[in-house]
Amino acid sequence: MIRPYPAGFKTIILITAFLLSAAAKAQPLRQAADMAGKLVGAAVSYDPLTTESDYSDTLAREFSQMTCENEMKFSSIHPGQFTYAFSKPDTMVAFAQANLMSVRGHTLVWHNQVPSWVTGGGFSPDELSAILQDHITTVVSHYAGQVYAWDVVNEAFNNDGSLRSTIWYDSPGIGFAGQGTAYIEQVFRWARAADPNAVVFYNDFGAEGLNAKSDAIYSMVADFTARGVPIDGVGLQMHLTESGISAADVAANIQRLTDLGVQVQITELDVRLDLRNGPPTQEQLDRQASIYHDVATACLSNPSCTAVTMWGFTDKHSWIPSFFPGFGAALPFDETYQPKPAYYSLLNAFLGN
Ligand code: G3I
Repeated sequence: MIRPYPAGFKTIILITAFLLSAAAKAQPLRQAADMAGKLVGAAVSYDPLTTESDYSDTLAREFSQMTCENEMKFSSIHPGQFTYAFSKPDTMVAFAQANLMSVRGHTLVWHNQVPSWVTGGGFSPDELSAILQDHITTVVSHYAGQVYAWDVVNEAFNNDGSLRSTIWYDSPGIGFAGQGTAYIEQVFRWARAADPNAVVFYNDFGAEGLNAKSDAIYSMVADFTARGVPIDGVGLQMHLTESGISAADVAANIQRLTDLGVQVQITELDVRLDLRNGPPTQEQLDRQASIYHDVATACLSNPSCTAVTMWGFTDKHSWIPSFFPGFGAALPFDETYQPKPAYYSLLNAFLGN
C-alpha cells in the first residue's frame, strides 16, 4: 500500500497541534499583543524594578512597553534650576532596552509634580518660558532615539472643556495667558524640535468617551493638524471604576481622533475595585475583567490605536490605595504577581477572542 505520509506522521501532526495550542494558552501578553500589532505597556516604578525580581521578571516577560510612573516628571528629573537627575530614568530605559521594550516618556508639561524652585521662584512669563523650553529641550534631547513617544502635555483641560488654570497657561503662564491653546502649540513645537523622530502626544483623563472634555481635545487636535502644528497622538488615560465605560463611545472617540490623522493610545488603564467590605469578590474580578476586555477591544478595533498601557501591573504597587482609600486591586496581576481574570481577558482580547 502506498502511504501519502510516512508512518507516524499523523501522530506527529496531532502532537504538534497540541503543543501549539498549549503554547497559545500560555502566551505572555506581549506576544499576543505583538501578533495583534499593538504594544502592551505598564507604568513602572524605579524602586521595585531595582529591588524585586518578581517585579522585573513579570514586567519583562509580559510587557513590550514601559512608562516611568514618576521618574521623568519635572520634579524628579529637573529638581534644581541647573540640575537634571537622569540616573534613575536612565536605569529604567536601559532595562527596557535590554528587554526589547519601547519607552513612552511621561510627562513634560503638567500642573502637578512641578518642583518648588519653579512654583515658588516668582518667575515672570518670559523667565518661565525660558525654563520650560530648556526643560523640554534638555529632557527630550537626552532621550532622543530611546524614548519613542512623549506625553508632551498632560491634563490641560477641565471637565467642562475649558483650559485648566496652571503655572504654564495663565498663572502666570509662559506668555500666552488668555490665548487658549497657543501655549500648548508652543510646547509641542519645542518638543518636535528637540527630537523630530519622537511622536508627540496630548494625554488626559476623563476624555476617553464622548463629552465636553473630549470635544475640546478633539477641536484642539483638529485645529493643530489643519495648521500643521506638530501633534502625532492622543493618550486616553482610562482610570476606571466598576461602573466601566461605554465601549461604543470610546470607539467613536478613537475613530474621530484617528480620522484627523493622529494615533491614539490607551495610556494609564486601571479599574479600581471597592474593597471596603473586604478582598475582591469573584463577581468584582469578573466585572473588572470584562471592563479590561471592552477597553482592549475598542483599541484593537482601530488600526491607529497603537498601544494599551496599564498604570502599573501588580496590585502590590499601584497609586490607587493611597489616592482612593478603601479602593484597590485595580491591575491585572495580584499582590503576589499571580494573573487575575483581568489578565486573561486582556490576553483573550489580543488573541481575538
Ligand atoms: O518620592 C516621595 C517620597 O520620597 C516620600 O516619602 C513620599 C511621601 O508621600 O512621597 C513620594 O512621592 C510620591 C510619588 O508619587 C512617588 O511615590 C508623591 O507623594 C505622590 O503624590 C506621587 O503620586 C503620583 C501621582 O501621579 C502624583 O500626582 C503617583 O505615584 C502616580 O501614579 C500618579 O500618576 C498620574 C499620572 O502621572 C498622570 N495621570 C494620573 C496618574 C494618577 O494620578
